Amino acid sequence: MKKQIIITNSAEETRALGAQLTQTFKGGHVVLLEGDLGAGKTHFAQGAAHELGIRKHITSPTFTIMNLYAVPAAQKKITGVARLAHIDLYRIKTLEEAYAIGVMDYIGEPSTLTLIEWPKKIQNALPKDCACVTVTIKVTSKTLRTFAIKPE
Ligand SMILES: Nc1ncnc2c1ncn2[C@@H]1O[C@H](COP(=O)(O)OP(=O)(O)O)[C@@H](O)[C@H]1O
Ligand SMILES: [Mg+2]
Repeated sequence: MKKQIIITNSAEETRALGAQLTQTFKGGHVVLLEGDLGAGKTHFAQGAAHELGIRKHITSPTFTIMNLYAVPAAQKKITGVARLAHIDLYRIKTLEEAYAIGVMDYIGEPSTLTLIEWPKKIQNALPKDCACVTVTIKVTSKTLRTFAIKPE
């Protein structure tokens, strides 16, 4: 995957982008979703989950920190991804907390696609061989979002 810049003009377009990029993600990939509150990180995650065949409503795991979703068997066959880990570190203060909650157990796990909102909190603890993709979202106007997608 090459570095890309993509602009969306609605929440729906951001969901579609999340779905489209998920076609290129594999188990073990870790997507670092950077961007302010209201940038569109969760909408991106909703598109990713939908692409994996997950039909539950996806919200920011702000209070639970991490939500795990099983990928339906039929979809797992196609994507090779068995689980989506959706992590939101907004409320985490220390790396120790992240370890205590179990967040670090899923990052890079070969059958898990991990999406992380507010990833800076654990950036230093990511595995050296992390198959990380950084998605930086900038709010350009009320409805315009600029996405910079950068594979490590
Ligand atoms: N192009 C866009 N992409 C994503 N969200 C958008 C866009 N334009 C407007 N929005 C709005 O911005 C907000 C994004 O919310 P959310 O995905 O929860 O952000 P985050 O998880 O980054 O805090 C929603 O209210 C959504 O309707
Ligand atoms: Mg969010």
